Amino acid sequence: MNNTILNLRPYPMEELNRIKEELKKKGVHIYDFGTGDPKEPVDEKIVKSIKDSITEISQYPSVIGRKDLRESIANWVKKRFEVELDPDGEIIPSNGSKEAIFHLPLTFINTDEPEKSRVIFGTPAYPVYERGTLYAGGKPYPVKLREEDKFLLRLDKVEKSILEETKIVWINYPHNPTGATADISYLKEIYSITQEFDIILCSDECYTEIYFDFKPPSALQVGYKNLLVFHSLSKRSGLTGYRTGFIAGDKTLIDQLKKSRSSFGVATPDFIQAAAKTAWSDENHVEKRREVFRKKRDLFIKFFNKVGLEYLHPEATFYFWIKTPKGLTTEEYVKQLLKYGIVVSPGVNFCAGIEILNQQCQSDYFRIALVPSYEECLKAVKVWEKAHSEIVR
Ligand SMILES: Cc1ncc(COP(=O)(O)O)c(C=O)c1O
Repeated sequence: MNNTILNLRPYPMEELNRIKEELKKKGVHIYDFGTGDPKEPVDEKIVKSIKDSITEISQYPSVIGRKDLRESIANWVKKRFEVELDPDGEIIPSNGSKEAIFHLPLTFINTDEPEKSRVIFGTPAYPVYERGTLYAGGKPYPVKLREEDKFLLRLDKVEKSILEETKIVWINYPHNPTGATADISYLKEIYSITQEFDIILCSDECYTEIYFDFKPPSALQVGYKNLLVFHSLSKRSGLTGYRTGFIAGDKTLIDQLKKSRSSFGVATPDFIQAAAKTAWSDENHVEKRREVFRKKRDLFIKFFNKVGLEYLHPEATFYFWIKTPKGLTTEEYVKQLLKYGIVVSPGVNFCAGIEILNQQCQSDYFRIALVPSYEECLKAVKVWEKAHSEIVR
């Protein structure tokens, strides 16, 4: 087996699923705040688009996708971020953003150029930035995201010699798992540093549409050359199972992606592209989704304030990043909660594999994803309140 795979610990969500299954077998009612895959139904118009586009003859989709989809994406970007994109040259559909993120380093990392093969990303993080880097033969360089920096990746604090060796920087705001957001001035600053060191800036923007207090900006608003953004309909429209998103930005990079992605087998099926076109062209269903998450978020803000759990106020995303109560390790608290059927993700799940290998990963935080329905959340809060008082007693 490939050593890259052998050396990785189990995918964090797989580990959680295993524990959950054991509890279910024991008959414990599970309130699952672990995996970030909400269950709200897909908007009818989107489902209809799929049904209407199923054809009798099935043919291979193309890497560049349907022109009408690329045009609807360009229209959305124009409306949302006031940025003009050329639908033919600056946008490629993807099968959700995970594969696009995973495959990206395969296009840009040269293993015979080790002096320019680092990939920087913040930690805690979505694990795929590191995994894609490792599979492509790049060198992951996790940078600790700190509370005092509002969990923003601070390239200005990274040594110049490291930046000189860096090919790609990943940022992800609004951020999984902390819910932190970045403003335009932060994006401008990080873009200017990446350009100074000839680095490709990749901005994973899959949560920009799940906002509450302010509309998160896109890196597209601050730059063009050496810049790519990654968007998805998984969070905005709840289409996690349909696998659809897009990559947009610098035409030179998009041209290179067009060449390489034809080898990956990730062109999006035609009927999913039809659904994606409908989803990017409609804001009503997104507004409704935001309201659902806002209601759940407000419920938990009230609950955490009541029981005295500290958390980072989420201006966006459907996550809470919560501090472990004093006197307990995160592992202890999370395991205790599990006994009551409350599934949360310990912060260590979002550490880079390299940090774990080097024993540099400690986290006093855990994450909840607002996945259960509002009614289930109401019940969960009651169970959690009782559990919490018994655990911290
Ligand atoms: C930060 C981040 N990026 C990307 C993804 C991948 O999402 P998808 O492949 O469904 O678009 C996720 C999923 O949870 C995520 O949290």
